[in-house]
Amino acid sequence: MKKSVVLYKKIPDDQRDKLSEHFNVTYFDGITEQNRNDVEKALAEADGLIGASMPIRQDLLNYAPKLKAISTISVGVDQFDIDELNKRNIRLMHTPSVLTDTTADTIFTLVLATARRAVELSMMVRAGKWHKSIGEEYYGVNVHHKTIGILGMGRIGSAVAKRAFAGFDMQVLYVNEFANKDVEQKYQAKKCELDDLLKQSDFVVITLPLTKETEKLINKQKLSLMKPSAILINGARGKIVDQAALTEALQNKTIRAAGLDVFKVEPLPIDSPLMTLDNVVLTPHIGSATYDTRYDMVVTAVDNIIMALKDEKPAYNLFNVQVS
Ligand code: DGY
Repeated sequence: MKKSVVLYKKIPDDQRDKLSEHFNVTYFDGITEQNRNDVEKALAEADGLIGASMPIRQDLLNYAPKLKAISTISVGVDQFDIDELNKRNIRLMHTPSVLTDTTADTIFTLVLATARRAVELSMMVRAGKWHKSIGEEYYGVNVHHKTIGILGMGRIGSAVAKRAFAGFDMQVLYVNEFANKDVEQKYQAKKCELDDLLKQSDFVVITLPLTKETEKLINKQKLSLMKPSAILINGARGKIVDQAALTEALQNKTIRAAGLDVFKVEPLPIDSPLMTLDNVVLTPHIGSATYDTRYDMVVTAVDNIIMALKDEKPAYNLFNVQVS
């Protein structure tokens, strides 16, 4: 008999067909107040769960007594209560690797856009305010040959280091739990303490996962260590930065600018003071959002759940690996 899977995100038809070849699939376009009752009913029978962008915590897991595996179509897993999954012996799989280069490209888009004030100046042109050759009030700063400090030196951090060193002749500093010999050799990256990185870097780039340890890691005190000319880029998770303290630093120009793809609350509320600042580039959590990469993430997640429910080792199993 086929096992049951709840799919809670729209995915391409060919991948939904692949899921249906293996499982009885119940599909929901997200989990909302309106469909919550139906989701709970479907969870009662579910062996597997696949989707993205929704908090999956104890309140929902209580309706899923048979659940064995969750496959998230994301690299981040902060939307899950990991302790609870471990307690219930539920496997969790994610989709790293396929999104590494795309996310590093997004981060570099923010590096360049903030340094060269691309969004602000585009708005100036559209507003009909470009009357003569621009003066120094509109100048940007160089990216090439500057120092980039990368927080987190995993797959995405390494891909940012590669772009910075090979493409822009930048000096690379990094903070990471472990030394990453590969980036040290290939990109002359230097591991250092967080405070030193913040004091020395022209661009501070966050690529860390959100955990209890990294929540609000970049707070008022840490921001005060950055150079007034420095730019902060967050392509990881909004809650790693104290957003109120960052807003204040940008308003008072104690740092030059910020490029943010992620926020404390998403979507960013329309009344956020960040919306009023010229020296911040805001993008709507687009790290991996290209046609190619989002498709590859779905393929990885679908393959992961098929493997996990067959009791075989999925490609990217994070927790509760019990492979015979
Ligand atoms: C990820 O894959 O974690 C992206 O940030 C989308 O949530």
